[in-house]
Amino acid sequence: MKTARSTEVSAQLFQRAEAVMPGGVSSPVRTYRSVGGNPLFFESASGCRVKTVDGNEYLDFVGSWGPLILGHAPPAVVLAVQQAAARGPSFGAPCLAETELAELICALSPVVEKIRFVNSGTEATMSALRLARAATGRDLMLKFDGCYHGHADSFLVKAGSGLATFGESSSAGVPGSCSSLTDVLPLDDEEALRVWFAQNGDLTAAVFVEGIPANCGLLPQRKEWWAELRRLTRNHGTLLVVDEVITGFRIASGGFCAVANIDADLVTYGKVIGGGLPVGAYGGSAALMNLISPDGGVYQAGTLSGNPLGMAAGLATLNTLQAEDAWAKLEELGQAWEDLLMPLIARENEAGAPLCLVREGSLFWLCFGSQQVPRSFAAIPQEGGDRHARFFHALLKRGVMIAPSAFEVGFLNLAMHHSDLEHAAGAFSAALEESR
Ligand SMILES: Cc1ncc(COP(=O)(O)O)c(C=O)c1O
Repeated sequence: MKTARSTEVSAQLFQRAEAVMPGGVSSPVRTYRSVGGNPLFFESASGCRVKTVDGNEYLDFVGSWGPLILGHAPPAVVLAVQQAAARGPSFGAPCLAETELAELICALSPVVEKIRFVNSGTEATMSALRLARAATGRDLMLKFDGCYHGHADSFLVKAGSGLATFGESSSAGVPGSCSSLTDVLPLDDEEALRVWFAQNGDLTAAVFVEGIPANCGLLPQRKEWWAELRRLTRNHGTLLVVDEVITGFRIASGGFCAVANIDADLVTYGKVIGGGLPVGAYGGSAALMNLISPDGGVYQAGTLSGNPLGMAAGLATLNTLQAEDAWAKLEELGQAWEDLLMPLIARENEAGAPLCLVREGSLFWLCFGSQQVPRSFAAIPQEGGDRHARFFHALLKRGVMIAPSAFEVGFLNLAMHHSDLEHAAGAFSAALEESR
């Protein structure tokens, strides 16, 4: 692996990109604004490594922000996409792969009897909200501080991900008449739920929550909190929508709802179900899903929805995951990673540089500035960002890539071996020391 890491070619390409695209990117967190410097331009990727146009290689913990559970360019997915492309990349008509992927997801998910494919997680949550409003005849929705559900207007209120990264609470351009229909509560607070539901529950169409909130660090919620949320939503006739765009088919074959035994009304998927291509989906009981056009009056459509390329990539990904007993392997990999990191974290805490690790299966997050695992957005120390920025660059220097944001989680994938994790832990150790 190279040690001299010139990034001059990336810098030149970024200058060109900035001239023609806002911030030089197609999605804000890709810039290095919160860590400083220019984003690297990728040329190719394979397994757990990416290669940039500068000729540098990095061990990658970003994994395209979640979809790449098999690693980069897995042969089964590449072949399936090549074959589908040769038959025609888009039909705008039904294809078998679409039904096969729907059948597979319906069989694996405890929540989904029927599913509608869309092109992104954003479309999935946006459409699920429309469906929930139609099903209940109510307009109000509730979400949680720091949870990100994509960039549709209704969800851009105290959202995580890029908004947390750039220290913004909400987006410009969202009409007040729209954001006034979205209420926000802190996570990890049953009393706040009870008070809010007593006042607003009967007016509320849906509560949206990430299976494991993973866009403002990693904030797994206590099972008592989930039980109270489910009890209150049911009592008030409010739909519980679990956003599994990150957790779906990553945490377990049936996603978070299966592991945590959450009887959600609707779920949303994205990322893993598209195997790296733009696919999202939402699903639930047949009774609810039959409200969608053309069976029902909830209009929702898409020129490229269910297209054969995305469906082929998703099928190849889910079939490989099932064939390889992937979730047990990912948990084993996650445990090995945790075992490597814990001594480093103890060392940092002894050295007076507080830090903690949160891990759920193949998702992990280092929280700088606290020895205590936070469970809500407000509990995340704000001063952690500077150290994260130094840590990020110290890792890059050593050939390891994490997300350029203190609020984004890391992703393990099945292309990683113990030797890769040991190598990464060496880099983490040195980078933690350097960034104190
Ligand atoms: C939990 C969650 N929901 C929705 C989305 C939006 O998905 P997309 O970026 O595909 O629109 C994301 C994206 O990161 C997400 O993490």
